[in-house]
Amino acid sequence: MTAHLQIVDLPKPALRLISADGSAIDLHPLWLRERCRSESSVDQRTGQRFYNPSDLDPDLAVTALRQAAPGVFVVTFSDGAVSHFREAELIAEAGLKPGADGLPELTAWDATLNPLPEAVWQSRPDDTLKLDIAAKFLRYGFVILHKVPAVDQGLFEVAETFGFVRDTNFGRHFNVRSIPNANDLAYSSLSLDPHTDNPYREPAPGIQLLHCLTNQTSGGLSTLVDGFACVEALRAQDPAAYDLLTKVQSRFRFQDVDADHVAWAPHVKLDENGVFQAVHFSPRLDFSPLLPAEQLQAFYAARRQLDRLLKAADFEIRFRLDDGDLVMFDNRRLLHGRTSFDTQEGIRHLQGCYIDSDGPRSLYRVLTRDDSGRVLAAE
Ligand code: OGA
Ligand code: ZN
Repeated sequence: MTAHLQIVDLPKPALRLISADGSAIDLHPLWLRERCRSESSVDQRTGQRFYNPSDLDPDLAVTALRQAAPGVFVVTFSDGAVSHFREAELIAEAGLKPGADGLPELTAWDATLNPLPEAVWQSRPDDTLKLDIAAKFLRYGFVILHKVPAVDQGLFEVAETFGFVRDTNFGRHFNVRSIPNANDLAYSSLSLDPHTDNPYREPAPGIQLLHCLTNQTSGGLSTLVDGFACVEALRAQDPAAYDLLTKVQSRFRFQDVDADHVAWAPHVKLDENGVFQAVHFSPRLDFSPLLPAEQLQAFYAARRQLDRLLKAADFEIRFRLDDGDLVMFDNRRLLHGRTSFDTQEGIRHLQGCYIDSDGPRSLYRVLTRDDSGRVLAAE
């Protein structure tokens, strides 16, 4: 059986949603009225409400119901409002949950991921290319782009296609290359363990772009690991350790001459429903809170377990960014790192910047939505 709506008359008129599994729920009159699209209820151009739902009669009822056409219902409410509703839209809306909301499902991945999500960049990309890149990014948490012009600030072509650049104390973009007396170990030739960037910032940057202008060395390979997959593996192998990492808040701090950022966050952030939100993990920058010895011992053990998973060959992918390659990744889901390189061999120069998480999500919805029925004429 597919989900459908049924008109019921008793004890009161109601639209009843019968789900695919046979379960039934009557659509509450207030829930339906909130979605009313009549001219007196919402502005027809923006779809935004003229009224505040808090001002609706708490005892609002449906007084009449009819089917105007296949899949279209007309509902009259006790406050006089009348509105058309499309069956498919109400069913889709009733099934929405916090989180994904119209986005592709996450695909957890490990070292066997093959092929990697990649695309060839084109300046002023058409919608097909934009959607391909956004969809790959949203599923896998990253995408590798080739042929992004290897020129100073060339990364903004990509960043500005998928969102708005988030400026920080490192600048609108930052140069990742080995320099003396750097204010961050990223600007050295050292290897970097899997980490998320700027966990000391509130909120931590959503998306990071790293664009290779040149790599004349044989090292400096990029590493990525799916934090979501590792956290799920930890949950399966040691639920108590997982639980600790979702509850204990660590302190992250960055200091230099001009800045002093501090944020507290659990290494694994869940939402109110227990759904994975983010990993905050940066071995260079985190400090555990002082807990009773036994608890702290258990916390360190849990952190160590997660760290082992993040560095395990089973989970990590490793690739080389060459001139003009760019990787765009979800800094709240994935962890990135690099192998060390030898500055005697030549220059390695990447440019990076951040954009907020909502950019690719919005773009994906715009490129996939069916606009035909967004605003229905009132009766
Ligand atoms: C960074 C970083 C990785 C690299 O700049 O935050 O992690 O490949 N760089 O140099
Ligand atoms: Zn980094």
